[in-house]
Amino acid sequence: MTAETVRQRSGRARDRPVRRSVGGGGRSSDADVLTLAGVRLIRDATTILDGIDWRVRPGERWVMLGPNGSGKTSLCQIISFYLHPSAGSVSVLGGQLGRVDVRALRLRIGLTSPALAAMMQPRLTAEQIVVAGKHAALAHWWHTYDETDWMQARRSLERVGCLDHAGQRFGTLSSGERQRVLLARALMRDVGLLVLDEPTAGLDLTGREQLIQTLAGLARDQTAPALVVVTHHVDEIPPGFTHALLLASGRIAAAGPIDQVLTSNRLSACFGLALEVEHRHGRWRAWATGVADPL
Ligand SMILES: Nc1ncnc2c1ncn2[C@@H]1O[C@H](COP(=O)(O)OP(=O)(O)OP(=O)(O)O)[C@@H](O)[C@H]1O
Ligand SMILES: [Mg+2]
Repeated sequence: MTAETVRQRSGRARDRPVRRSVGGGGRSSDADVLTLAGVRLIRDATTILDGIDWRVRPGERWVMLGPNGSGKTSLCQIISFYLHPSAGSVSVLGGQLGRVDVRALRLRIGLTSPALAAMMQPRLTAEQIVVAGKHAALAHWWHTYDETDWMQARRSLERVGCLDHAGQRFGTLSSGERQRVLLARALMRDVGLLVLDEPTAGLDLTGREQLIQTLAGLARDQTAPALVVVTHHVDEIPPGFTHALLLASGRIAAAGPIDQVLTSNRLSACFGLALEVEHRHGRWRAWATGVADPL
């Protein structure tokens, strides 16, 4: 058992306090990547998100965890300006929702999700999919691209270790290769925020580990944008990730520095299952030990 495991097994009372909102909650600064204050989302009379105060600063690498239906995808869509909250304020990269042209600001936010992957044209090559990312377009024929753009697309593919597949049709790529191509697509623009909703969904062990290494490389890269990655599994958290947000029933259960949030007690409360958490060699692991106290 590692010292970290011992610390994490040592009971609720010893957990260091974690602010429910991070970095001073609603007080935003122009330098913040994103600031959410009092965000609520109601759809068809159902409250999907409520009381969301969250702040992300440049260089931070966040992982978002929570049970099915806890609101992770909805929150990703709000911070990518694809969903308008019912209440609260949302500022991303210095632009406040309601006061800026969201179409322009969306170009500074990279988003990948299983829904987006399904929207790609299978007959386009990886390179064509990536170059279209310059305009956040689904296909390359809507815009004109010069040689610099195609070079940038190849550099972006190289950055995610997929240059060898540049000329291959998207529909023939493996799931893992597709995820990496979509990541390259998001990196085609000068994004200040990269939001990856379940990038490892459906990947085999090799594909998953390759993608985790790619994300770990981005986490280390000082020039890379701030990252928000949604996953269902703590063992998929790439080394180097700095912060974690736990969502439960549409509310933030905990958010802050990763080693303060990913404790056995907090994760157990979030998932309603008694869990133990271990952090070893830069990777996280969690396993069930019984049924947890209800939230
Ligand atoms: N238009 C809508 N009307 C009613 N409920 C909705 C609507 N859209 C989403 N929801 C509900 O909001 C909740 C949050 O959905 P969301 O997709 O954000 O969850 P999630 O945490 O991403 O889940 P998963 O882990 O399964 O991907 C779900 O219970 C979903 O059924
Ligand atoms: Mg989801």
